[in-house]
Amino acid sequence: MNTQTFRLLLVLCCLCSGSVLYPGAVLAQRGTDFALLDQDGRFHQLSRYNESDAVVVYIQGLDDAVSAQGYPLLQDLQTRYAGQGVAFFMLNAARDSTRQAVQDELARHGLDIPVLLDTAQLVARSLGVKTTAEAFILDPSSHGIVYRGPLDSRVAVDDADPQLPIPYLESALKAVLANVDSEDEPELPAVSGTPLVYEYVSRFGDRQISYQDEIVPIVQKRCTVCHVEDGLAPWAMVSHRMMQGWSPMIREVLITRRMPPGQIDTQVGEWGDIHTITDDELITLVHWIDSGARREGEEDPLTVPAVAAPEWALGEPDLVIDVPEEAVPATGMVDFRIKRADLALSEDRWIQAVAYDVGERSVLHSLLVHAVDPTITDKNPADLIDPDNAEFISLYVPGRTEEVFAPDAGFLLHVDRDLSFKLRYVTGGRERLDKTRIGLYFRDTPPEFAVRNVITLNEDFTIPAGADNHVETASTETFAGEVYVESFAPQTHTRGKSMRISAELADGTVQLLINVANYNFNWQMNYPLRQRLLLPAGARLVTETVYDNSAANPHNVDPEAEVTFGVTTYDEILHHYIRILEKRQP
Ligand code: HEC
Repeated sequence: MNTQTFRLLLVLCCLCSGSVLYPGAVLAQRGTDFALLDQDGRFHQLSRYNESDAVVVYIQGLDDAVSAQGYPLLQDLQTRYAGQGVAFFMLNAARDSTRQAVQDELARHGLDIPVLLDTAQLVARSLGVKTTAEAFILDPSSHGIVYRGPLDSRVAVDDADPQLPIPYLESALKAVLANVDSEDEPELPAVSGTPLVYEYVSRFGDRQISYQDEIVPIVQKRCTVCHVEDGLAPWAMVSHRMMQGWSPMIREVLITRRMPPGQIDTQVGEWGDIHTITDDELITLVHWIDSGARREGEEDPLTVPAVAAPEWALGEPDLVIDVPEEAVPATGMVDFRIKRADLALSEDRWIQAVAYDVGERSVLHSLLVHAVDPTITDKNPADLIDPDNAEFISLYVPGRTEEVFAPDAGFLLHVDRDLSFKLRYVTGGRERLDKTRIGLYFRDTPPEFAVRNVITLNEDFTIPAGADNHVETASTETFAGEVYVESFAPQTHTRGKSMRISAELADGTVQLLINVANYNFNWQMNYPLRQRLLLPAGARLVTETVYDNSAANPHNVDPEAEVTFGVTTYDEILHHYIRILEKRQP
């Protein structure tokens, strides 16, 4: 069937029935899951829309007259189909697009459709995008491409008949929703939008990427802290063969932003040591994978064994405390463990640093250390970490075995305190006995600033069963004097989806400090600011935390349950720990 007859058929169909038959529309091509942030820093992953029947993606450009012609048509489709299980997005794949520019463009056109910013061009590359104004229908369950072509004959289609507009995308959408299958591939006119310029083409051309000089340094910087022998990750990046063998999976975890884990929105705030990866690094890694993940030369820097880390990288601690051991089973879910240990200090001490000698790195995912009132027993474990009885000191997360406070700051550990711990274990296919030790390093002299960990408290909330976008707010105390903010350790249980923490000043001004756009229950991280941030007296920290209690949340332990505050995995919390520094009275 040629284009002409196809068009005729389509027009006839459109004219004669409400439910249009669209040949080949549900013939899926292999696609890929992906994740991106939109112009407001919200996270969207294709597979998280698996309760929808279809996801429409329209390629737009900033100040691009061709793709702008499609805006009113797309908005109209969204109005009519959003209620029928179709999610609508635009995708901007220019390297230098900013959120502000996209927000301005949306405002100028009065559009309310999220724009996914694909500044690393990985999604465009995977979808095979050639020009703006191309339109896609994706199947969020299989990730397949069920339609690729024009939005409508009035948008970037040459020689179209203005008297007989053809709603290509809508026809395809109707076929998808009606579950119409066909063996025929439709012949569609080409989309003549503005060509997308891929950076990998100009950057690499036909040249082979150097495994030794370009790939290994990225892997060592971003991955091998966990992907080593006996490390936290289930497989070790110890040779080129390993990397090549895993390369399809590596591509997938990069494009879905699963690895490195615990990534946050780096356009908000300036960060110290966090797990992240840049667009440039992503472009290099993915281009290397797509061109065969080859290596040159004989040497393989990844096979050089890592130098064995000393037991205590900071030297012998002043005090070593054993965390009570835990037998972790091979499989299944282990609920949080709450434990305690005696301290028996003889005087108040200022902690300068906390180090972790982790027993089983492959199963311990997080460990929170608190100074606790010694009269609290483990009869009711939740009491041991209740903010009324216990003050949070430090958090171990994978790859961060030391936490050193700033040279002018320390945590005051009162003589009459013991330690309490909240541990999160994951199972790894083998039984493990974890015996972790904590090393404390004390200061000889009192510091200028006292370290204090404040929390955003809200223990009075109910998340309805199935709610996929349930928002709760909470705040810290209002600080009487000036404080410096240093780091954030946001924490929810399995329903947590995203959280934003802002500073609210006395005059009502609100400044966003951190956007954890894609919270993952398995990765409770600590995010240190590159530089401490001064908050004037009268400020407080506020949070907006979003919970997804639906079945679309892959971590959800029970989408049927209404959830309230509590300390087991089945309950929820809204405890974001924020480290502040307060000037001590001389
Ligand atoms: C903080 C530790 C950590 C870092 C850093 C890290 N990984 Fe992982 N990785 C893990 C763990 C743990 C798993 C097991 C699955 C999970 O927990 O999500 C994993 C799993 C994987 C998998 C297998 C996924 C699967 O479904 O089996 C791939 C591929 C991977 N990582 C690639 C990478 C790459 C590439 C990097 C660097 C860009 C990286 N990881 C950085 C800890 C890490």
